[in-house]
Amino acid sequence: MLILLLAACSESPAPGDDPRASPRDAAKVALGAKVYAQSCASCHGANLEGQPDWKHRLPNGRLPAPPHDDNGHTWHHADHVLFAIVKNGLVPPYATPGYESDMPAFGGKLSDEEMWAVLAFIKSRWSGEVLLLRTEIFGNISGK
Ligand code: HEC
Repeated sequence: MLILLLAACSESPAPGDDPRASPRDAAKVALGAKVYAQSCASCHGANLEGQPDWKHRLPNGRLPAPPHDDNGHTWHHADHVLFAIVKNGLVPPYATPGYESDMPAFGGKLSDEEMWAVLAFIKSRWSGEVLLLRTEIFGNISGK
């Protein structure tokens, strides 16, 4: 049992902020900005502003793309959750089974490094206030 717990711990070293998505790593943020412009901006907005009227469902019942800046809810999620959503799309465990969404899965299209980098870029655009709130929610930031 103890061994199992230790193994589980070593798989998720950072509770909320993962050093692989550090907004303080300039090279990562630069790579992430490129990836964002190419793969995310068409839906989430060149300036991370999201689609117009993003809180209301489209006629097909799906949600528009939310902003990734302070106004959205991206920052409510821990890094490993965001990574899983970008890689796999909105599928279980972060959506209900059969949930329909326009958010694509980027696994196979982007490398893990590019997906962490795009998160570093998004986080680099959050205010000090939001970063501080995340520290309170998720614990200490490991990716100084
Ligand atoms: C084709 C449009 C489209 C593209 C391209 C796209 N997204 Fe999305 N994304 C969406 C939509 C729509 C949602 C909201 C889906 C929902 O909640 O049902 C979303 C949701 C998300 C969420 C969850 C946010 C939250 O707070 O729940 C993350 C994280 C995300 N996208 C990241 C990205 C990243 C990073 C990229 C580029 C690598 C990207 N998306 C590219 C449409 C897109």
